[in-house]
Amino acid sequence: MKKITVLIALIVFIVSCSHKTAPTTAVVIPKPDSPEALAGKTVFTAKCGTCHDLKNPGDYTAQEWVPIVKEMGHKAKLNDTDKNNVLAYVQSNARQN
Ligand code: HEC
Repeated sequence: MKKITVLIALIVFIVSCSHKTAPTTAVVIPKPDSPEALAGKTVFTAKCGTCHDLKNPGDYTAQEWVPIVKEMGHKAKLNDTDKNNVLAYVQSNARQN
């Protein structure tokens, strides 16, 4: 009887350990030569240097770019497609964490 208890405890232990917790903060970075990133580069060059000098995508991490592009996309009056493309461009050239 004791053996079974140990066995059950062991199984519960193994099962509970096999659930790998997925990293929730992972950012999917597009490739620099993806159509989104290439389109984003055009928008970035045309729209993002009007108020200040063009910022360097490599000055920020992919994660840092998310709120920046949200705010700056608004300032630059970008539509959602352009915003997503700019994000793809800067993230694909972003600083490594
Ligand atoms: C309407 C004017 C305007 C436009 C257009 C604009 N920005 Fe900005 N941006 C600002 C202002 C104002 C600031 C804050 C002062 C500063 O850092 O120069 C800023 C700051 C920034 C910063 C620094 C943010 C930080 O937290 O360090 C980045 C990066 C940036 N902009 C990127 C962009 C990108 C990318 C675009 C194109 C989508 C863009 N900006 C378009 C006005 C603008």
